[in-house]
Amino acid sequence: MCGIVAYIGNREAYPIIIEGLKRLEYRGYDSAGVSVLNGKLTTVKKKGKVSELEDAAAKENMHGTVAIGHTRWATHGEPDDVNAHPHHSGNNRISLVHNGIIENYSSLKKALIELGHEFKSETDTEVLTHLIEEYQKRDNLDLEDAVLKALNKVVGAYAIVVFDVNNPDVIIGARKSSPLVVGIGDDEYFIASDASPIIKYTNKVIYLNDEEIVRIHRGEGVKVKTIANELKTPKIQEIDLKIEALEKEGFDHFMLKEIFQQPETIFESMRGRLNAELGWVKVGGMDDYLNRILNAKRIIILGCGTSWHSALIGEYLIEDLARIPVEVEYASEFRYRNPIINRDDVIIAVSQSGETADTLAALELGKEKGALTYGIVNVVGSSISRVTDCGSYIHAGPEIGVASTKAFTGQLTVLSLIAIYLGYKRNTLSEAYYRQLLYALESLPAKIEKILQSNDQIKYIASEIQHCDNALYLGRGYNFPVALEGALKLKEISYLHAEGYPAAEMKHGPIALIDVNMPVIVIATNKNAYEKIHSNVQEVKARKGIVISIVLEGDQKIKEISDYCIEIPETMDPLSPLLSVIPLQLLSYHVAVLRGCDVDQPRNLAKSVTVE
Ligand code: AGP
Repeated sequence: MCGIVAYIGNREAYPIIIEGLKRLEYRGYDSAGVSVLNGKLTTVKKKGKVSELEDAAAKENMHGTVAIGHTRWATHGEPDDVNAHPHHSGNNRISLVHNGIIENYSSLKKALIELGHEFKSETDTEVLTHLIEEYQKRDNLDLEDAVLKALNKVVGAYAIVVFDVNNPDVIIGARKSSPLVVGIGDDEYFIASDASPIIKYTNKVIYLNDEEIVRIHRGEGVKVKTIANELKTPKIQEIDLKIEALEKEGFDHFMLKEIFQQPETIFESMRGRLNAELGWVKVGGMDDYLNRILNAKRIIILGCGTSWHSALIGEYLIEDLARIPVEVEYASEFRYRNPIINRDDVIIAVSQSGETADTLAALELGKEKGALTYGIVNVVGSSISRVTDCGSYIHAGPEIGVASTKAFTGQLTVLSLIAIYLGYKRNTLSEAYYRQLLYALESLPAKIEKILQSNDQIKYIASEIQHCDNALYLGRGYNFPVALEGALKLKEISYLHAEGYPAAEMKHGPIALIDVNMPVIVIATNKNAYEKIHSNVQEVKARKGIVISIVLEGDQKIKEISDYCIEIPETMDPLSPLLSVIPLQLLSYHVAVLRGCDVDQPRNLAKSVTVE
């Protein structure tokens, strides 16, 4: 998605903006630009990477202590220099950057053209700058009031930062459905799409809420209002994000670093939430609504992409362990299919970013209908974490790679804790099985460390399939969603087509695809369906498919009929996805690297899909 960085203070602003935009590259973008106020307005914007913007800006006077910057992921208008942000008003007084979509921009643009406004770009954003200019001129308003008036005319999602050449000591920010964070320094201020461009300078931040506008006046400080013009008292938080957490720390890619962080991040997801020896598990986020959750007639779990795969495993876990009926929904489908939602439903939204537009909208639909809403989110202060009635952070730390890895296992850890906690509270688990689950959870980080030692073997297997055009992933039970996740990982970063299937479904169609060129990745760690998986592998081999099997340590039977075999430690079936996914993450990573793909920022993808 688009990224925003802005600065006003007493330092050279341009270098701060450029470094901040580079911190936001993980969001995915296709053009970038900067506007600097130095008595006049100097704007440089280019299609392509931030480095190309720097080359273009090197020829300009970019000195000044106020600047705004933007990385654009095109929604309206081709990715090119003209459609890149920032955008100016017609009188070149105002410069503005925007993340989101203005849905009624066509009607606004038509009305402005009739008033004599001329537009340079095809973007919805430029319409906003001209609307602000029109209110300044017609109603003789200062920037803040003109922005307020304009935003009350806008339908859609926005996070904007805007400034006016005639008022160089002020920058204005505002948000609706797209995140915006204000950084408070020593008489210097930052505004950005998330905390990563800010944390190098200050850990004091304000997370703007929906339909709020912030006015930063150099020397006077920060003022926050609603777009209905009601003054608000901003809540200044101190965040403990460390800048090195954003660096690759010696790994070639963020994705590889985040795969190897999983023993630590899974431990963080469990920290303070269980103690196997003392026999307790606690999901504090449920405390205020525990009875309502325990007596839920149904739990609906919403998500997109990898988070939808986590949701599917959540269904298996909660029904298996807590015996509460669960439905899993693609958020994008749920929000539009006129679903039945009851007041005694509990809706769980799973989202790494906490900003996915479809998940947020589906959640808000459920909230409107009176369901209790629960968030399982990674990014602290994100929109979903603030819309839900309650929830649990997964504490996986910033996930920079577009392909979700540690967030996925963090989500599974929290879903496992929830299922065990609810099962314990509802007496659907025997004491012995309950304690066994707690010990099995606690032992996972060490077992993942062990699986990561197979990295070189997995890299070799990747080299053997890197030139294939298709791949099939098969799994049963808890490992069926893992097959889906493994396929998504491979296709989204290596652009090799892959599909995940329930293993038993193979004979209902996909088996027709199998030939000597088709690698079939079979997750065969289930203890309760082992013989069936064994015969699935034989079916693939009978058709000369290439079998890559994930088996439990010491399994010779499947290993001896596989072309390649990765052995992983044993755990209880409900927790097996947390282990069986690790080799699949590494396999997709190495295939993508061997195929020369941009692993951390795959083509066409964004880390957080904040528009529909
Ligand atoms: C997963 O690797 C993808 N990056 C994508 O499917 C992602 O899981 C999806 O967009 C949902 O994002 P969220 O978890 O931030 O809501």
